Order: sequence, then C-alpha cells, then structure tokens
Amino acid sequence: MRYEEQIIEEVRERNDIVDVISSYVTLKKRGGSYFGLCPFHNEKSPSFHVDQNRQMYYCFGCGQGGNVYTFLMEYNRMTFPEALKQLADRAGIKLPEQEMSPEKRREADARSALREMNKQAAIYYNYLLKSSRGSNAMNYLKSRGLTDETINHFGLGYSDIYPDDLYRYLQSKGFTDYQMKDSSLVVIDSVRGNRDRFYNRVMFPIMDPGQRVIGFGGRVMGDGQPKYLNSNETILFDKGRNLYGLNYARRSRNRAIILCEGYMDVISLHQAGFTNAVAPLGTAFTPGQALLLKRYTEEVILSFDSDGAGKKAALRALPILRDNGLRASVLSMTPYKDPDELIKAEGAEAYQKRIEEARPGRMFELDCLSENYDQKNPDSRTEFIHAAAKNLSRIEDSIERDNYVTAAANRFMINRKELEKLVERYGMSYQLEQAGDRYKKEPETRERREEKKKMSKNQPQRILLTWLTDYPELYPVVSKVVGPDDFLTPLYHSVAIMLFDQLEQGEELKPARIIDRFTDAEDQKEVASLFHAKLDFGISEEDRDKALTDVVRKVKLASIEEQMVHTSDIVEWQKLIRQKKEIQELELKR
Ligand code: CTP
Ligand code: MN
Repeated sequence: MRYEEQIIEEVRERNDIVDVISSYVTLKKRGGSYFGLCPFHNEKSPSFHVDQNRQMYYCFGCGQGGNVYTFLMEYNRMTFPEALKQLADRAGIKLPEQEMSPEKRREADARSALREMNKQAAIYYNYLLKSSRGSNAMNYLKSRGLTDETINHFGLGYSDIYPDDLYRYLQSKGFTDYQMKDSSLVVIDSVRGNRDRFYNRVMFPIMDPGQRVIGFGGRVMGDGQPKYLNSNETILFDKGRNLYGLNYARRSRNRAIILCEGYMDVISLHQAGFTNAVAPLGTAFTPGQALLLKRYTEEVILSFDSDGAGKKAALRALPILRDNGLRASVLSMTPYKDPDELIKAEGAEAYQKRIEEARPGRMFELDCLSENYDQKNPDSRTEFIHAAAKNLSRIEDSIERDNYVTAAANRFMINRKELEKLVERYGMSYQLEQAGDRYKKEPETRERREEKKKMSKNQPQRILLTWLTDYPELYPVVSKVVGPDDFLTPLYHSVAIMLFDQLEQGEELKPARIIDRFTDAEDQKEVASLFHAKLDFGISEEDRDKALTDVVRKVKLASIEEQMVHTSDIVEWQKLIRQKKEIQELELKR
C-alpha cells in the first residue's frame, strides 16, 4: 500500500516521539536523551533510549528500534496503517482514503470488522443487562455486591436466552456471515442454523491495554456448567498475552500489580479501591503475560484462591515471574476462598493488611515444600532440608541467597551453618550442570551458517551507511567512489538512495524520515539499527582512514563483481576489470 509520503511525514512530525512513548514507558531525561526500561525485553537497568532530535528510539540491549510508527507497531502489535491512523487521530489530522493490496486490505478489514463487532456486542450485552430482559442478570450482579458504577466501569452485560439474539443484532448492524464466522461470538452453521456462542450468561467484556474489547467471558447465573465460557482465540484475542483488568491497572498509582485468579476477584478488588488487580483469561499464567506485566511494574502480588488449585497455580506462576525479572510475593486468603470473599466478609482494610503480611515468593515456595514432609520424622526432615537447600542454591544474587538462608534457617529451625554448607554444595553442582549444558549446545545449523554468511556480505554496506549518517562530512570523499547503486542489498539500496539524496542537498539528516518510507516493522527495525550502530572512532586518524578505505573498497568491489557476473559485453568487462584494479589500490584521505 502507498500513502503519500507527505502525509506520513506530517503525521510523524506532529507526534513527538518522547510524548508518545512516555505514555507507555517511564522515561527519564539524561543529558539530551531519554532513557527507560525496554518494553521489548526483560531488563533491570535502562538501555532503552529515545532520541528527541532524531525522533527515534533504540534499545542497546535487544536491538529494537525505529521511529514513532515502529514503536506503536511493535508495542501494540499494530499494522502500519493502524499506527498511522492512531497517530493521525492523536494529532487531529484527517487521513485521505487509501488503496491497499487486496490481501492487506482483507486482513485489515477482518481485524477492524472484528474490533467493531466486539464493540457492538459489548454495547448490546450492556444494553440488555439494563433492559427488563436482563433483570435476572442485574439482580445476580447486585447480589454479588456490585454497584451500578462498577457494572458500568467494567461494561458488564447480559446475553439473552434466545439462541440467535446477538447473531441477528450483528446482522442488523450490517455484518455478514463471512465476517462473523471467525469472531467466536456466533457460530455460523448452515446445517443446524446460525447461533450465538453465549446465551443466558452474565457477560464480562475483556479489553486489551488500549481499552478495546477483544473477547468475552460469560458466567452462568448461579450453579451450572461450565461456570465460565470464554471466547476462543481470534485474530484479536490472544489469551496468553492479555490480562483482565490491565486496561485500568496500568494506570493505577500503585507500583505493584495484584495478580488474582478470576474476573470476579478483579472486579471486587477494583471496587474496593485496589485498582491494580488483574487476572489471566481462563488459562494458566504465561510467560507472555509476565512480559506484559513487566511493562508496567517490577513487583507482582499473587492473590490466588486458597484451595489446592490456587496454591498450585501460584507455585507455577512464581518461576515464570522470576524468569521475567519480576519480584513476587504471595497473599494468603484463608479462611476465605478468594479475594472476592475476603473483601465481602472483612472489607478493604483487611485485604490491605494481607498485602502488608505478604510472604516473599521464595518463602511461599519453601512453606509449600515443607508441607510435603513430616517434620517430626528425622528422615523426612532431612529430605526436606536437602530439598530446601536445593531451592535456595538457585538464587543467583549472593546477598539475596544469604538472606534467604538466614530466613529459612530461622523459620524451619535448621542449623544455619549446616544449611549454608548444603546450599553451597548444591550451588556448585548446579553450576557445573549448567556449564555442561552450555558445552553440549547443539552445533551451528545450516540456516545459522547461511545467515552468518549473508550478514558478513551485508556488513560493509551497513557500516558505510552508518558512518555516513554519523559523519556526514565523509560524504564528499565517499561519494567520489560509491553511489547508491553500489548497495546491493535491496533494503540498503533504498536507504542509500534517500541518504545520498539528503546528503547531496546538504540538508540536515532526518533518519526518522527515511524510516517513514518503510512500512514493514522488520524493515523499520533494521533501518533504525543502521542509525544507531554508533561506531566509535576511538582510533588514530590514520587508522580511521584505513578503516574507511577498507569498507568503501569492500562495498565497491562487491558491486563491481556483481556487474561482471551480469555483463557479456567485452568492452564493458574490460572497463570493470580496470575499475576493480583501481579500487584495489584505493587510498581514501579526508
Ligand atoms: N474459568 C474459566 N472457565 C471455567 C472456570 C473458571 O475460564 N469453567 C476462569 C475464569 O477466568 C474465572 C477464573 O477461571 O474468572 C477463576 O475461576 P473461579 O475461581 O471458579 O471463578 P471466580 O472468578 O472466582 O468467579 P465466582 O466468584 O463467580 O465463582
Ligand atoms: Mn474464584
């Protein structure tokens, strides 16, 4: 698809990258730049860098980078047109109608149709809840202690008893069977008839962090099976990468996020003032969800049900949180079943008190472990102490490990010295094991080798482009030898055409503008990395000229050789041979 370059540029210029990214990532100003924790990988110290002058971002940790469009495409998993639309709206610019390739158009249409369908369904369910047809559902929600305000805040609704009520409603709104087919809202079935997925249930719209409805959970009123029915995954609804309530929790002033088990827990926690509560979407907690949380917080408070299943879920979530760099603590809900019950029985202060008494994740793990052993039986207790030491030995930070050894020794009345010795022993064999694993790492694959080969072919072109961006003063020297057509890799060729053009005009370089020309996120990232691969000339002037000569020579020689492959004209061929010789003897001086 082609948008007018002018429009793309105007929209970008009217959306300052620091403003836009700040609404997703906390940025701190350092010198002329802004730094923050990278939202694209797990890190403890900020290597995510936003450059206001260049209107670009780049992460020195994971190599993600680009302009404001790239950021939205990556962060919100948007297509280029969606990112453009969002930024145009943000700046109050009206976009002209677009033409797209049929395939892209179909995909974009399917997504936006599904977005609209989910939104219409949520509006309709909410309308039904408030109508006389929804009085049972309304009574049910009220009996569970929800206020009108909460019901509105979460956009709760009701799906009616007729088997095709929503289907007909969506039809009246102009949606076709084809559009509804993969919505997971209705079942299109030409044999048994089209019917709704949800009927006679209280409806919980599930929103993405950007507050758009992407799916639903529906609960039976009272007893009945299944208690909850959720939308299946669709092109919008990825259960492993969204969390219920995150659209509000991300804006909560609390620095920690409370992770609980169910929709009702989230809702009653928010109603009680804990607006930082979220829950998974009917599936177990995933690493994708941990990474999502990491964008908003450093610390997660687990508030799972107090039954065996809740404990198991907590034990499974803890390592996932840890692996993604999140600190975790665990609340106890006993004697109540879940947060919803506790708050209803004892109120918000009691819940707050539980937060203050939270156990660190490790302690919770050790407590659970200890319950598996008979502490009065010496053999069983020995086994327990070994198991505990093994767990403690996995703590990487030595101070943290030492603190936990002390805490565990006190709590389980183990001799501290003995425990420490044991932990060290397990730590040693663990490290050996890991080193062994590294050694055993599979040999390089063929793809990897090919990739490397391609990289080394591309490398000189990359470096040269980067140098020209960082040191425009090299342009007169370089351009005597190399032109844009000498860049053989298609992506670099396109960049070179624009870059040489800007340099020729002697205008100030605008890397973000060059990135505009690419609407594929992968291309944008690659181009952005060109502009950030700061090459440090921490070497003598002579060596620097040598390095420059070397790179220019490599680029030009590859280009000449490529031309030789494609020429059968003997005169042309001889010319290329001469050129090749000249280049081999080239000495660049500034
Ligand atoms: N869940 C589900 N399908 C089920 C049961 C549960 O998807 N058949 C998911 C739902 O996301 C639910 C969560 O697991 O919110 C927790 O289940 P449960 O504790 O049974 O429900 P609550 O949310 O506590 O709801 P309620 O208080 O109404 O029982
Ligand atoms: Mn529950």
